[in-house]
Amino acid sequence: MKVALGADHGGFELKRYIAQVLRDAGHEVLDLGAHSVESGDDYPDYARAVGRAVVEGKAERGILVCGSGAGAAIAASKMRGIRAALSHDTYTAHQMVEHDNANVCCLGARVIGPELAAEIVKVFVEARFTGEERHVRRLAKVAAMEEERR
Ligand code: RB5
Repeated sequence: MKVALGADHGGFELKRYIAQVLRDAGHEVLDLGAHSVESGDDYPDYARAVGRAVVEGKAERGILVCGSGAGAAIAASKMRGIRAALSHDTYTAHQMVEHDNANVCCLGARVIGPELAAEIVKVFVEARFTGEERHVRRLAKVAAMEEERR
């Protein structure tokens, strides 16, 4: 799977590790920065880059890393077509895809360590939306909320 990655200064090191984990697992990584530690950079810039890559079909999924993961999730979820969620456990990492068709996983590098993060991203990219009627119905309601914002 092609996976877009992004991180601000808070997530820079963990992003680098995750990129290697994904490559070792056979995935293609589109690294949208940061490409060096910039202490004054802003997580919405990377959330936007990763969100656009997913919406435009340049990547199937996205992974964002910031200090807590919260800012990245908030920012990415503002984009039409992006369903981003914070996941610091493997259950959420697969259920958010199976039920909620999440396409961006957000992680906090100041919250979890690299090995748990590695397990989470592998579970996330391997999960598939079930397409069950109840989930499709709920996602249609979420999409309608997105349109109300316009
Ligand atoms: C940056 O210091 C930090 O605020 C950011 O990485 C993130 O945690 C925001 O949610």
